[in-house]
Amino acid sequence: MGIFITFEGPEGSGKSTQVRLLVSWLRTRGVNVLATREPGGTEIGDRIRSLLLSPTTRALTVEAEVLLFSASRAQLVQEVIRPHLEQGGVVVCDRYADSTLAYQGYGRGVDLEVLQTITRFATRGLVPDITFLLDIPVAEGLARKRGNQAEWNRMEQEVVAYHERVRAGYLALAAADPHRWHVLDAREDVATLHARIRHIVAEKLGWSGDEVDPGHSP
Ligand code: TYD
Repeated sequence: MGIFITFEGPEGSGKSTQVRLLVSWLRTRGVNVLATREPGGTEIGDRIRSLLLSPTTRALTVEAEVLLFSASRAQLVQEVIRPHLEQGGVVVCDRYADSTLAYQGYGRGVDLEVLQTITRFATRGLVPDITFLLDIPVAEGLARKRGNQAEWNRMEQEVVAYHERVRAGYLALAAADPHRWHVLDAREDVATLHARIRHIVAEKLGWSGDEVDPGHSP
């Protein structure tokens, strides 16, 4: 089996930038790496994604939302992730099951045990080897996402409280399994974060210090 790496965090945490940097660094080192994201990453998953994220999707129940995210995940695991891991490759995924626990569980109040059961079923028990949490205070994440510091102040308190629950949920998940999770401060600059991520991944791959640094800075 290869190595399964996931990235978690709120919108505006710089996840996709770090995924991109990690993937291209691994590629330059000759690693067979596959990059993917959730929801989506397969033909069926992309159709589910557009249903889930489209502003025209109204009145979706939280149960239906959980099952759609999980359906997209089931397809991605069976069709893409597992086959690549079985070939000994590395998979880097932008969001995975922990997003469901954080957003639908902690954020929207769905029973966590129910979500764990659905997730085990959807993924056939596939758990990441390494999960990076790009943590950022809610106000800063929202401001980054909106590209405007003044803007978030006008947001409804309810929206902010929801994101606070998601963040606290992520931190609780990370605290419960520190062996898998690595919490990073997303306010650090891009290169510093990338270097931290590189060291953790290199250690997992069993590479020595020399193999981590030689001039492949972004
Ligand atoms: P996306 O546009 O991919 O945003 P990001 O760049 O932040 O990943 O949107 C994914 C959205 O779906 C994001 O708001 C998180 C949410 N989400 C859930 O609520 N539950 C889940 O299980 C997953 C995978 C995502």
